[in-house]
Amino acid sequence: MNLLFRLKHYLRYQWQGRTKYYIHSPFVFQFYLNVLEGDVEQELKPLAQLRQQLSKNNTSIAVKDFGTGSHKSIAISTLLNKVAVRHKYGKLLYRLVRHYAPSSIIELGTSIGISSAYMGMAAPQAAITSLEGSPDIAIAAGKNHEQLGLSNIDVQVGNFNQTIPQLLNKLEHVGLVFFDGNHTEDATLQYFHQFLTKANEDSIFVFDDIYWSEGMHAAWQQIKQHPQVTLTIDVYQFGICFFKKGKTKEDFILRY
Ligand SMILES: C[S@@+](CC[C@H](N)C(=O)[O-])C[C@H]1O[C@@H](n2cnc3c(N)ncnc32)[C@H](O)[C@@H]1O
Repeated sequence: MNLLFRLKHYLRYQWQGRTKYYIHSPFVFQFYLNVLEGDVEQELKPLAQLRQQLSKNNTSIAVKDFGTGSHKSIAISTLLNKVAVRHKYGKLLYRLVRHYAPSSIIELGTSIGISSAYMGMAAPQAAITSLEGSPDIAIAAGKNHEQLGLSNIDVQVGNFNQTIPQLLNKLEHVGLVFFDGNHTEDATLQYFHQFLTKANEDSIFVFDDIYWSEGMHAAWQQIKQHPQVTLTIDVYQFGICFFKKGKTKEDFILRY
């Protein structure tokens, strides 16, 4: 069911997605040139090597199921292949952070620390807070960050229901927020509204898996329509929101 849904939307994305030659907005054109384009393979070589190494690591770690509270064992290689951001979209996160240099970076869902590593490498001076509910996974993420020499990523362990309010209490504004945990409609909308209370003109929200399910798609449609969101960019895997004031609301679908 979900497969058919995703295929339908992928074909629609391919049909509707624009290339840079059809973009009139200067802001979105710059986004295209700086975030969707650019060879960063050389800079990301240590991360590509780490991915290679993890893909062969069959050590199992305990992963918590947040629905039931139970644990199951999953191999690190499986977490890399099935859960972590793909290199293509990791590069997008890297260029996004490098281009906009957000004042703070928050991630919901660290897993073994791959997406946070792309963002951490893009902004070694920026403070990144990544939230993860499974303690053993958080330890694995810490080791991966250490191997890459990244000391700017703070992984906080606990259920989002507790860690998000605690984090928001300490912040005046949020810079970039990457929503990549608990991919359900209700949870996504709940987290969106929580972070919206601390969004300003420079905030950027990135939602992963906006076509994962009908629920995620419904959440993305509601997010797009929110009056505080002034510009959205859909690259199929991610939905990206900007909050610039004084702009006519626009939604873009861009080929990536
Ligand atoms: C898709 S994975 C994150 C992948 C990671 N961002 C990457 O690309 O490398 C989602 C993570 O969110 C965590 N998670 C899901 N629901 C959670 C909750 N309610 N509280 C805390 N962590 C949660 C899971 O344990 C899982 O590791």
